[in-house]
Amino acid sequence: MEQREQWNTRAGFILAAVGSAIGLGNIWRFPYMAAENGGGAFFFPYLFALLTAGIPIMILEFGIGQKFRGSAPLTLARLNRKWEWLGWWQIAVCFFIAVYYVVIIAWAISYVGFSVTQAWSGGAGDFFFGTFLGLTGSPFELGGLRTGIILPLLVAWIVTFLATYGGVKGGIERASKILMPVLLIMTILIAIRGITLPGAAQGLNYLFKPDFSKILDYKVWTAAYGQIFFTLSIAFAIMIAYSSYLPKKSDIVNNAFMTSFINCGFSLLAGFAVFGIIGHMALNQGKTVAEVAGSGGVGLAFITFPTAISTLGGLAPLFGILFFLSLTFAGITSLISINEAAISAFMDKFSMPRKKVVIIYTVVAAAISLVFATGAGLYILDIVDHFINNFGIVFGGLIEVILIGWLFNLKSVQEHVNAISEFAAGSWWLFTIKIITPLVLGYMAVMNLIGDLRTPYGDYSIPALFWLGWFVIILVVAGGFIFASLKWKDDQYLVKGVE
Ligand code: PHE
Repeated sequence: MEQREQWNTRAGFILAAVGSAIGLGNIWRFPYMAAENGGGAFFFPYLFALLTAGIPIMILEFGIGQKFRGSAPLTLARLNRKWEWLGWWQIAVCFFIAVYYVVIIAWAISYVGFSVTQAWSGGAGDFFFGTFLGLTGSPFELGGLRTGIILPLLVAWIVTFLATYGGVKGGIERASKILMPVLLIMTILIAIRGITLPGAAQGLNYLFKPDFSKILDYKVWTAAYGQIFFTLSIAFAIMIAYSSYLPKKSDIVNNAFMTSFINCGFSLLAGFAVFGIIGHMALNQGKTVAEVAGSGGVGLAFITFPTAISTLGGLAPLFGILFFLSLTFAGITSLISINEAAISAFMDKFSMPRKKVVIIYTVVAAAISLVFATGAGLYILDIVDHFINNFGIVFGGLIEVILIGWLFNLKSVQEHVNAISEFAAGSWWLFTIKIITPLVLGYMAVMNLIGDLRTPYGDYSIPALFWLGWFVIILVVAGGFIFASLKWKDDQYLVKGVE
């Protein structure tokens, strides 16, 4: 039996884990979540979610991945032969995220080029929806493939292909070691420019000014928990897979704290960068920040921010390039981790060599991602993203903490973790995993379900929501059970594990 691959250094592991955590979510999701959910007052629920769910689950996933040395399905199967399906659910969620996440990275790559000439200067909204995306009238009106998206899409797939093909040390670790420091430097440059601009204060004020009236609103709390899960890449099979490549003696607790704090620190930095520049734009246009801020997500990155960048005068092309390269680098390292979670699972289950799995996986995923490179891509992306985020992650995380927290000897995980960590995960850890997280996630799951059943998402037709939303969730669930029911190529592997 082959030896399981291993990270070269501890720093390499942390950079890869941080690379997974820091992604599009930190740059376009966090600043808006904070601004919309009470500004400075959002930090209280955010910190609470980080400490009661984020870090504890990170410790749990690092702990079981490292101890049972397997991708999520293998690790769960080793915890209990009957739980493998949960691992495959999470893999299915990863797969659906991968196929649209990569397209957003492709957009960012295109916008690096557009930054040079400020191609959007006639109106960033029309440019994005019309000229660039060629957005059609509805999700089922595909409108053909967009060449301008397919080329960068190919670039994004080639980079992630090379990283996963190169293996844990030679590919993923190496890519993270190059991309993450460069990302940090670029973001620091943007943040410095951002906060020293006239008008920046208004932007930061908008982001950080506490609105305590929101703190009792349950929506603010579920937003904070949702953001923490998404941003830390937990309950996605990813951190289990990455920690399965850790050496026998690894400081689990410390690594989890470091990964989480670096990620959240980066989010703050991105908040400074984004809102500094948006504040400047508001001043420039003689409007309030609230008026120019627009909405979060895709609109922020590809409409509001380009418009804001254009107000930087001669430096506009440079900061456009820096911003979209940051988005690209942050996205690529996350995409690598999403793909690796799935790749490692197929390698384990079918005892197939890495290179073969990577080739098959990449070809299949790249082909499917083409759907999002059509004129209806943005609609499809929006629906799939909504359903995967609202149900895939919340239910995946909920079942994970219930199974491992209640139906498994969680204390044995704690003992294992504490034996190899510098400082211990005490009884607070058991309490958060067993009690707090299941309660909050359970509540979120029910509320999300009621919400979507009562008010169908967005302005989409019911068939569109069914086929691109509910049906995708059905595929995740069914796919999970189907893969779990397949025979392991090598049963010994499942029982004994590799050393
Ligand atoms: N955590 C990363 C982000 O914030 C990327 C990611 C998202 C990874 C979803 C896995 C799943 O964008």
